Amino acid sequence: MPASMPASLPIQTERLILRRPEMADAPALHHIASDERVASTTASIPHPYPDDGAQEFIAAIRDNTDRDQLNLVIQIKGSDVIGMAGFRPHEGHVELAYMIGHAHWGHGYATEAAHAIVRHVFANSLHDVILARAMTRNPASEAVIRKLGFRQTGVADVDVPMRGGVFTSSFWRLERADRHDG
Ligand SMILES: CC(C)(COP(=O)(O)OP(=O)(O)OC[C@H]1O[C@@H](n2cnc3c(N)ncnc32)[C@H](O)[C@@H]1OP(=O)(O)O)[C@@H](O)C(=O)NCCC(=O)NCCS
Repeated sequence: MPASMPASLPIQTERLILRRPEMADAPALHHIASDERVASTTASIPHPYPDDGAQEFIAAIRDNTDRDQLNLVIQIKGSDVIGMAGFRPHEGHVELAYMIGHAHWGHGYATEAAHAIVRHVFANSLHDVILARAMTRNPASEAVIRKLGFRQTGVADVDVPMRGGVFTSSFWRLERADRHDG
């Protein structure tokens, strides 16, 4: 199913620009992702983070041709790169993904960026459903998902090989029909 249309990028929000990563973003992304406080609630960021992890990640993103996958750098307008947001394919739908550097937590940036991703998916693809999930020990992520209007569909223990254990996680779903602002 078609997803993002490059012509609709970059995305601008009130405070942020969401754009495709460039190799020059590697130091900033490495700084963010190598922080255990960021990695430990994700299913995909290794810790310790490899020295060339950010370069390899950016190269992989740039080679990616899957239209159901998008990874955008989050940059404060005229200022720092503070994280990443996007989506990946999951169970026939797309699933939200985001991280914000620890120094920038608590300012509504994840909510603002993830909201822009939700609008982007519904405006530029035929997907009618967006999924999200979070470890229940990650109440900030659950709060972000809830603020976006997602409906909780369940809670289950999930094996997370990257974290080396089983983590209770909440599952969420947002339907196009639930949105009233596009
Ligand atoms: C989860 C994460 C993206 C949140 O980023 P952020 O920019 O701080 O998020 P926002 O400021 O937009 O919103 C955070 C919300 O969580 C709430 N919150 C924060 N800590 C909380 C806690 N311990 N308990 C309950 N709510 C909490 C905040 O109050 C805020 O809600 P509010 O606006 O209603 O007050 C960030 O902590 C992060 O990158 N974590 C590591 C990576 C990660 O876990 N990614 C998601 C994987 S599912």
